[in-house]
Amino acid sequence: MERKGISYTFAVPKSVQGFGVFVYKLMGFKEQIDLSRLPEHIAIIMDGNGRWAKNQGKFRGVGHESGVLSVKDIMEGCVEIGVKHLTLYAFSTENWNRPIEEVNFLMELLISTINQETETLTKNNIKLNAIGNIASLPQRCIDDLNSAMQKTENNTSCTLTLALSYSAKWEITDAARKLAQQVKDGLISVNQINEEAFAAQLTTTNIPDPELMIRTSGEHRISNFLLWQMAYTELYFTDTLWPDFRSEDLYEAIVDYQKRERRFGKISEQLN
Ligand code: IPE
Ligand code: IPE
Ligand code: MG
Repeated sequence: MERKGISYTFAVPKSVQGFGVFVYKLMGFKEQIDLSRLPEHIAIIMDGNGRWAKNQGKFRGVGHESGVLSVKDIMEGCVEIGVKHLTLYAFSTENWNRPIEEVNFLMELLISTINQETETLTKNNIKLNAIGNIASLPQRCIDDLNSAMQKTENNTSCTLTLALSYSAKWEITDAARKLAQQVKDGLISVNQINEEAFAAQLTTTNIPDPELMIRTSGEHRISNFLLWQMAYTELYFTDTLWPDFRSEDLYEAIVDYQKRERRFGKISEQLN
C-alpha cells in the first residue's frame, strides 16, 4: 500500500521467510528526519499556482490565493522542526511582465496577506524579512511590509524571507555597483574585493546560504533565484503544484536531502 507522505515497510526476516512473519512499520516523513542534521536554511520556488487553478477551471488568482495556505503551512512546518531560515520566491523581476491584471492581483494579495498574517508570524515567533528591489513595489505594499518587519524584528524561532521583485542578476549587478562606488570613493582597494566582501553587498548578507532549494510544479530551472547563494545548494524538484504542497511534502524533501552526500569538491573518503 502506498500513500503520499507515508511510507510502509514490510520486512520479512530471512530466517523465517515463507512463514509469513511480517514486521510492519508505519512512519511519516517527519519522524524520519534527523533533527541533528537539519538544513539551517531552506529556499523555495513556489511554482504552479496558475496551473493548479486552470486544472480546476478557475481563474489564476484562485491558485495564488490557495498558495497562501501552503505558505502558512510550510512556515509552521519549519518552526515545528526547527528550521531557522525559510526563503520564499514570491515575485520575480520577470513577473512584472505578466498581464497587468495578474500583477495587480498579486500585489493586492501580498498586501492583504502581510496584514492578515502578521499575527501568525508573531504567534510562531517568526521574523519577517524581504529581499529584492523593494523600492519598485507599490508604496502601500512597502509601508505594510516595513510595519510587519518592524513588529516581528525581535522574533527568534525562524526568519521568513520573502523574495519580492527579486532577481539574482539584479542583486549581483547591484552588489558590483556598490563595490565599484566604494573603490571610487577610496573606502576600499580593488584587492579587498573577495568572496566575503562581495557576499556582504548582497541582500542576503545576514542569512546563511541555503543547504536545500525546493521547486514545486515539475519545472527544473532556477529562474534567476539566489544564483550566488546556491553555488552548493542541494536542489529538490517535485511535481506537486504549490497550492498542494504541505508540511509533509517539505519533510519528504528534507528526508531526501539527508540521504545525499555533500562533498564540496572533495572525495567521499575525505569526509568525516
Ligand atoms: C507561482 O505560480 C507564483 C508566481 C510566480 C507569482 P505561477 O503563477 O507561476 O503558476 P504557473 O507556473 O503558471 O502554473
Ligand atoms: C518563478 O516562477 C518565480 C516565482 C516563483 C516567484 P515563474 O513561474 O515566474 O518562473 P518561469 O517563468 O516559469 O521560469
Ligand atoms: Mg510558474
